[in-house]
Amino acid sequence: MTVLGGDSWEGSDGRNGPVDAPLVGTVISLAFVGMFVWMTAMVYHSITGGSDSGSNGGALAGEESSSSSRVKSDHGEICSICLDVYDNPVQLPCGHSFCEICLDGWLLKSKFDVRQPRNCPMCRHRAKPSREIISKLHMLSFASQVEESGDDTWKKMKNKLVTDLLKMGHTAGEINDMVKEHCASRHEMIEFIPAAVQHNDTQTILDWLGSPVDERRLTSVCLGATILHLTAMFKHNEEMTSLMLQHGAAVNVYDPNGATPIMLALLQTFQSRGLVNETAMLLYEWGASLEHHLPGRTGANMDAFLRTVPMFHDKLVRRRCEIINLNRRKDLIGQTCIVEKYIAKKNRYKVTTEHAHETFLVGRDNLKRRDRTPDDPNYYFTFEDGEYKRHTFSSNGECQEFVRNLRSSGREESDGENAQSIQIGLQDDVAKARERWIRRCREAAD
Ligand SMILES: *[C@@H]1O[C@H](CO)[C@@H](O)[C@H](O)[C@H]1NC(C)=O
Ligand SMILES: *[C@@H]1O[C@H](CO)[C@@H](O)[C@H](O)[C@H]1NC(C)=O
Repeated sequence: MTVLGGDSWEGSDGRNGPVDAPLVGTVISLAFVGMFVWMTAMVYHSITGGSDSGSNGGALAGEESSSSSRVKSDHGEICSICLDVYDNPVQLPCGHSFCEICLDGWLLKSKFDVRQPRNCPMCRHRAKPSREIISKLHMLSFASQVEESGDDTWKKMKNKLVTDLLKMGHTAGEINDMVKEHCASRHEMIEFIPAAVQHNDTQTILDWLGSPVDERRLTSVCLGATILHLTAMFKHNEEMTSLMLQHGAAVNVYDPNGATPIMLALLQTFQSRGLVNETAMLLYEWGASLEHHLPGRTGANMDAFLRTVPMFHDKLVRRRCEIINLNRRKDLIGQTCIVEKYIAKKNRYKVTTEHAHETFLVGRDNLKRRDRTPDDPNYYFTFEDGEYKRHTFSSNGECQEFVRNLRSSGREESDGENAQSIQIGLQDDVAKARERWIRRCREAAD
């Protein structure tokens, strides 16, 4: 587990939630209160229309994400970190370019921790703070604006981050420009979506995503959180989380605090001593990693919590796996199963197959992780007439075919229209989703 320093979340110290055990108590007071304020900030964000970024509705504007820091792929040019042809190159202010993934690896320490030096690997010239840090600064500025008077937790956190950035040699003007550039380059989530997630309004979310699903909306962010962060964070959204995963939402993506969706789902479970929330379980089967970059004490508390959860004591437990090398039951080879638990005395795993629901013991050599993916989910949720329907299948092949058919019928529908009408279609989706949402709010108010 990588926990990078930083203690900017410690601002929420001293505001205690319901304390029932020392560990749980601190976790709640820091992370949970922090998250609660953050959620409030997001709800405010949706109420005020999120206009602070000046790029409201950016998802429709069709801009390329962070295009300003990206250079065209120069065929034949070699990245000096991996010594291979550039893959998605990023240019630093000093003029040196690297593959985005290489640079992220090289500068990993400084990705979430502003106090780690961030220099060009070639010439040591000072590089810009990471996108994550700038995104966090934007989130904190926003949260501090909507903070209730008398409570300046978020403002303090923002000021600390700015102080650290100034200490690292960035000027106030540069910092301002970076936040502006950041806001202009990313896809902002349409303002009513967080509230629709919070209120379990699946139809509004689906209308907004469009059919076929608009990639840019799936990756758009609200204060740095993706739609999957939101469905994982708000309560009782297991099915909605599943829908987003089926559509290809990235499972291991970080919010500005260094948390992936599963970390936000686990925050819901802190009180329940070692029990894991259904949404977290679901994300885990879809390949969620337990790595996080939550700073300082919040991060340490998260690690301490993760150690209390029995299912995380073994890397395979509660993962979806494929059965391999099983000489005695060749018929089971290639079948998928869920690993129930590890039995140390026998050095065997208890597994249940997904289709026949057969339970037996196998060794570590008989299991290979096979995370769920949009192409191979094993089950499928659809949402029709206000209800979720869970489809089950008698084999993975059958499920895969179902998914393929569903996709090709979606594509056929849109192939019939020309590019322009698709563009108009997308705008209609948003208008439809927005109208639906407003109607819903009125009904709720009556
Ligand atoms: C998951 O979270 C929800 C909401 O916080 C809660 O009602 C539910 O009991 C949790 N599940 C587990 C297994 O902790
Ligand atoms: C959320 O909505 C779906 C249907 O739209 C419903 O089946 C589900 O029970 C709802 N969840 C909660 C917690 O209300």
